[in-house]
Amino acid sequence: MKRYYLLTYGCQMNELDSEKMAGILEENGWDSAENLENADLVILNTCCVRAKAEDKVKGKLGQLKKLKLAKPRLLIGIGGCMMQQDNVGEKFLQQFPFVDFIFGPHTMDRLNEIVEKSCTGRVLELEDDRFDVPRLPIKRESSFRAWVSIIKGCENFCSYCIVPYVRGKEVSRPLGEIVSEVEEHIASGVKEVVLLGQNVNAYGRDTGKVDFSRLLKNVDEVPGLERLRFMTSHPRDFSLELVDAISKMPRVCEHLHLPIQAGSNRILKKMNRGYTREDYLRLVEYIREKIPGASITTDIIVGFPGETEEDFALTMDVVEKARFASAFTFLYSPREGTPAAILSDQVPREIKKKRLNYLMERQNKISLNYNRALIGTLAQIMVEGPSKKDSEIYMGRTRTNRPVVFPGQATPGSLQDVRLTDCNTHTLYGELQEALPNE
Ligand code: SAH
Ligand code: SF4
Ligand code: F3S
Repeated sequence: MKRYYLLTYGCQMNELDSEKMAGILEENGWDSAENLENADLVILNTCCVRAKAEDKVKGKLGQLKKLKLAKPRLLIGIGGCMMQQDNVGEKFLQQFPFVDFIFGPHTMDRLNEIVEKSCTGRVLELEDDRFDVPRLPIKRESSFRAWVSIIKGCENFCSYCIVPYVRGKEVSRPLGEIVSEVEEHIASGVKEVVLLGQNVNAYGRDTGKVDFSRLLKNVDEVPGLERLRFMTSHPRDFSLELVDAISKMPRVCEHLHLPIQAGSNRILKKMNRGYTREDYLRLVEYIREKIPGASITTDIIVGFPGETEEDFALTMDVVEKARFASAFTFLYSPREGTPAAILSDQVPREIKKKRLNYLMERQNKISLNYNRALIGTLAQIMVEGPSKKDSEIYMGRTRTNRPVVFPGQATPGSLQDVRLTDCNTHTLYGELQEALPNE
């Protein structure tokens, strides 16, 4: 049997696309290879959100070139967001003669035909955008968690971001189709569903029919579902009514990922985010009031063009006030074709790095304190499986999405009670509680 190996970079959207690529390939007689060296077909699913993501892909291509020299019949393909940027697909085909085919997020549903064609000649198959969301087979990585795409594309055009240019216009999937996909996943053993979109709160904006809150309610009611999550939310579109609605949905987990990006109103405006620091903090406060114990996580960019020490201090001030459970922090990375990349007042790299270090150090302390406050309490976790480092130690997640490791074993996807006993910045340690005997 022919074997494929997929390498995925970037966000959950790409992870899900890779699960779909694997689904398509397996429907057409391919089997998965355990590693690169054993594969007859290697596909890179690329990301271009920051320069670092691109560098990783280019580094991998160096390794693939050597593999192809040793094994000339190996097929190599590149897909994903990076190929969708202006002329990048064409450029890659010229620059990397050992690559057999190039495709993008809008043509991945034709992956099987593309692979077949590439056996007789090199293929470049890209499309500008697409206005439907084809239902594709999915080979899930997890036995108990399923990612379900609810809306494709993004039309927010945050001034630093490349995503709208590579993922195209927003197209919401019909409610009925989403609910039936969730039902199918549950019938095959799924316990947790994560609804995905670059801005889930924009769901239904294009169709004018059902909005995100209605969709959530319908999915929340699917029998057999234990946990429901969604990402990513946009603070501008996250209404207080949505917080109220969520607080009444028993399966929606008490975790919200709410990227703030910056804490200065001047910078938020230049970023085209559409909210102020005050709006954001009000939303956080309302969430804390209506959803007790909720964890809030965020994304922050430091060194956006024109960011002064005062602007950065305002970001730090929000970090102090919002007390995020954790934060993804990034150095601003100019992306060609975005409005922010041509602004003249780019922040020197040294200053960006200094600010990032300061932010990370402070956020790490806040995350540690957040975890410390949980020690001694009981938490319900959904078991994921053995931890990466030690197969004697298992790992699971709380409803608030905090990772908990514990000695002993338990079935992936099962719900367990643990007593939290210790922590470090990013992980909680716990002990399984014996199920109480029936009285
Ligand atoms: N749709 C999501 C995720 C977008 S990409 C959202 O709106 O939040 C994930 C994160 O990458 C963003 O939240 C942002 O913090 C970061 N990011 C995007 N473009 C970037 C750039 N040019 N430089 C640095 N970080 C960037
Ligand atoms: Fe990028 Fe903004 Fe869209 Fe997120 S909402 S994907 S940051 S343009
Ligand atoms: Fe990267 Fe594309 Fe996601 S650019 S962050 S993989 S949508």
